[in-house]
Amino acid sequence: MTTAASRASATAFAPASVGNVGVGFDILGHTVAALGDRVRATRRAGPGVAIRAITGVYVDLPLEAARNTAGMAVLAMQQDLELPYGFDLEIEKGIPLGSGLGGSAASAVAGVVAAAALVDEHLDRTQLLKYAMQGEAVASGSVHVDNIAPSLFGGLVLTVGIDNPFVKQIPVPELIRCVLVHPHMVLPTRAAREILSKMVPLSDVIWQQANLAGFLAGCFSGDLALIRESLLDVVIEPQRQALIPGFIEVKQAALAAGALGSSISGAGPTVFAWSDEADAEKVRVAMVEAFARHGLESDSWISTIDRAGARVVGD
Ligand code: HSE
Repeated sequence: MTTAASRASATAFAPASVGNVGVGFDILGHTVAALGDRVRATRRAGPGVAIRAITGVYVDLPLEAARNTAGMAVLAMQQDLELPYGFDLEIEKGIPLGSGLGGSAASAVAGVVAAAALVDEHLDRTQLLKYAMQGEAVASGSVHVDNIAPSLFGGLVLTVGIDNPFVKQIPVPELIRCVLVHPHMVLPTRAAREILSKMVPLSDVIWQQANLAGFLAGCFSGDLALIRESLLDVVIEPQRQALIPGFIEVKQAALAAGALGSSISGAGPTVFAWSDEADAEKVRVAMVEAFARHGLESDSWISTIDRAGARVVGD
């Protein structure tokens, strides 16, 4: 068996994720089994982190470690543990950048999981979460965990607290599928956060609280009618929808085709819908056609929710 101490390199996969899941802005997210990023880490003499290569669907990213999400996350780990050695990283992007599918989080998570496999001491996932959060902050300009936590832990994940976050995996009814439609445009998370109002009417806060509670209760009890009633974002979606051409029509098309609910994936522009397995293809086609009517081509997926989270997949 290869131990961490004797291992020269490790490659980790981290799945994409749907941040917010409509009702849990910055605190709720779930993985997407269909997509992910890979990072290969190799131990190098002397401290520090170097990005050796970026390949895949998007390669125009900073090579300077402190400006790169995976680089910064691994650097945070290397410095916090005061390791006498450093890491070389090779990043393979499987997630389009600025798509709202948690690409920066997945790179950060895959980076720390790969590097942690080369560290002599055991690091638990709560420690890795904190390092990955520092990587995510480089990309989005803020510390939020709704992509990092599911990508690292797997499944539908609620995170409570920032300094010492509690991470709770929520069961998802077996038949649920997530339909994702990514229109061919880029929407930087930073820009989609800057437009948000700091003030929210109390009536909307109450409605959103009910929706979050109802959604979680529906997931725990397998109550699809309750999920359908509560998978509705009345706070963030109304502020961001104008950033995505055709959003209202895409959402309406998903609901008309039988989706339980539909909203913006993370900061967008990807739109997601939860649906029963039997309706998923109809929902996907309806959403793609609605974007096409607004002149936007798109990529689309019907995905299960990856329950395993990030893992080492090779050397
Ligand atoms: N929850 C954050 C946002 C990040 O909506 O801005 C999404 O990936």
